[in-house]
Amino acid sequence: MIKKFNKIEKVKGTLFLPGDKSISHRAVMFSCLANGKSVIHNCLLSADVQSTMKCFKSLGCEVKKEGKIIEIIGKGFKGFSAPKVELDAGNSGTTTRLITGILAAQNFQSTIIGDESLLKRPMLRITEPLMMMGAKFTTTEKGTLPITIYPVEQLEAIEYELKIPSAQIKSAILLAGLHLDETTTVIEPVATRNHTEKMLNLSTKETEVGRKIFVSRNNYPEPKVYYIPSDISTAAFFIVLALLVKNSELKLENVLLNKTRAGIIKILQQMGADIQITNEKISSGEEVGDLIVKNSKLHNIKIEREMIPNIIDEIPILSVAGLFADGKFEIRKAKELRVKETDRISAVCNNMKKLGVLVEEFEDGFSIEGEIKNFNNEFESYGDHRIAMAFSVLSLLLDGQNNVDVFECIDVSNPEFLNQLSSII
Ligand code: S3P
Repeated sequence: MIKKFNKIEKVKGTLFLPGDKSISHRAVMFSCLANGKSVIHNCLLSADVQSTMKCFKSLGCEVKKEGKIIEIIGKGFKGFSAPKVELDAGNSGTTTRLITGILAAQNFQSTIIGDESLLKRPMLRITEPLMMMGAKFTTTEKGTLPITIYPVEQLEAIEYELKIPSAQIKSAILLAGLHLDETTTVIEPVATRNHTEKMLNLSTKETEVGRKIFVSRNNYPEPKVYYIPSDISTAAFFIVLALLVKNSELKLENVLLNKTRAGIIKILQQMGADIQITNEKISSGEEVGDLIVKNSKLHNIKIEREMIPNIIDEIPILSVAGLFADGKFEIRKAKELRVKETDRISAVCNNMKKLGVLVEEFEDGFSIEGEIKNFNNEFESYGDHRIAMAFSVLSLLLDGQNNVDVFECIDVSNPEFLNQLSSII
């Protein structure tokens, strides 16, 4: 579907957005691991989280929607049944990589498949450390899906230092480690999102080589009630929109403010954004708060390397803010963007070039500078939800009519995007 957008005059109102995607995946997974009934409030019900739910249903778990809440009956330690079908992770890298960690420790065989985008994404980054623990897999020659996971009696604990700053790799190892009496240690030289550690109450230690995270069967999850904060990565699109449209004031309630995720707010504030945080509290172990965002004049700043994992999913929409900010917008040390749902460096650059601005593409990032010369653009989403939403926001800021193709891909993280948008414009 091609979605057409026209310039908007103002953004006003309040949004209470659905649950954070990373936390929703984990709440579903940990509820399925636990023995008995868990309840999840404000769970994101996007295509990606539905993929996680479907995979765990195939492993024998009960997942039910009761009004606005999700009820899950988990199977307990090694209580899953062997799936009768291939587990389809759809478009979801998080589903694939985290469930592989869990399945690596089971005594049955399973196979994970995915959509066209997921079939291209690298999986050796998880199978290699998991094989060091004794897990048995086959992948394609390229190290991509389908992955078949073979039964093992017992894995072995390892100490593993992450070579790529990735919460998905970290979590895959930690979730395999949950099934062992001995302690598995993951060393993280650069901080990545820490929801797995927080939600499983794992102990951690800051050391010279980085943060050490410890896990064993003692951390195996119990049934629980989860309250999921609103997704900061979804909020980012509305934050940037409100910042860039004149006379705007937008309130976003109950937004996740975890320090490993809220880098987008910090960077935008450094760029001159008027974003006030109120009503800060802790909800299910996570920091949350309300954001009040007002139209602001922005300037570009140097974005430090350590910030990249913290803003990795927000870089497409941050580049839209950078396009309208004074000076040159530049992102480097972000090679990981090339292996997301699409190659997001080339996707952002190709779309930005349509505007007639100066775009430079690097192996690990890109820069954007100059005046917009072309209106009436046909932006390409590349079937990637974050590219589609970033260029929808840009389209709402431009004169003329601007379109975004394969727009339905937004369902991956936020099927309600257009309804939320129409309630504030
Ligand atoms: C996620 C981790 C990130 C992020 C993804 C969600 C998670 O991926 O891009 O959208 O929930 O753990 P990497 O850990 O591979 O950087």
